[in-house]
Amino acid sequence: MNAGAMHRLKRWFLITMVAAVAASASLGVYVYSGHYNIAADEPHWFITAKIIETLRDRSIDRRAKDIVIPDLEDSQLLLKGADQYEAMCTGCHLAPGMENSEIRQGLYPAPPEFSRVRTDPGRAFWVIKHGIKMTGMPAWGRTHDDITMWSIVAFIGKLPEMTPQAYKERVREARAGEGMASPGDGTGEHGAHQHGHGHGESRH
Ligand code: HEC
Repeated sequence: MNAGAMHRLKRWFLITMVAAVAASASLGVYVYSGHYNIAADEPHWFITAKIIETLRDRSIDRRAKDIVIPDLEDSQLLLKGADQYEAMCTGCHLAPGMENSEIRQGLYPAPPEFSRVRTDPGRAFWVIKHGIKMTGMPAWGRTHDDITMWSIVAFIGKLPEMTPQAYKERVREARAGEGMASPGDGTGEHGAHQHGHGHGESRH
């Protein structure tokens, strides 16, 4: 390389560096200025929403792909799920025959309605266990064992074909059965914990 070319290369390098520093400085100023509107009642720009959705979906896909899915047709599991879902999820995700809730209308992004959309069981399990940052979707794994979360995954898989009447009956049945559960049969506190092993995700 001759001296002239070397000089031009150095100049371009310098200009690129200055531009990069200026860009990150103005980003810092913007972040600190308070101009960004963090309000949940003002939607993202289309491009921002696309980036966040892609980031979320790829992140979940990557982490959920090796999860081993247990038998989701087990009737005891489904019954347990009915009770759990009704108690913990309907406020945000609704249920067959349920009107929109106040909390749901204020959430951004909006929680999906499981009686209208189908979910992949492995992905659903991962999301229920770990939650999603900055959305309002909690990490239920902090307070619940794997078998409880699988019971909910099993149950939400049945919601799209469930009538409001059938939904009510499942919940009533689940609650009626609760009092009769004997210790260690998988529905009591201790039983649930013992059965909780082996169905989890592999750690990397
Ligand atoms: C406080 C409100 C709230 C509660 C309570 C809540 N969720 Fe969510 N959930 C959300 C929001 C908001 C999203 C959407 C996040 C997004 O779009 O990135 C979400 C997303 C999900 C998803 C991912 C859906 C998909 O396919 O992308 C699953 C699965 C889920 N929730 C299951 C549950 C279950 C099961 C419960 C009850 C144990 C529950 N959630 C309780 C707010 C909630």
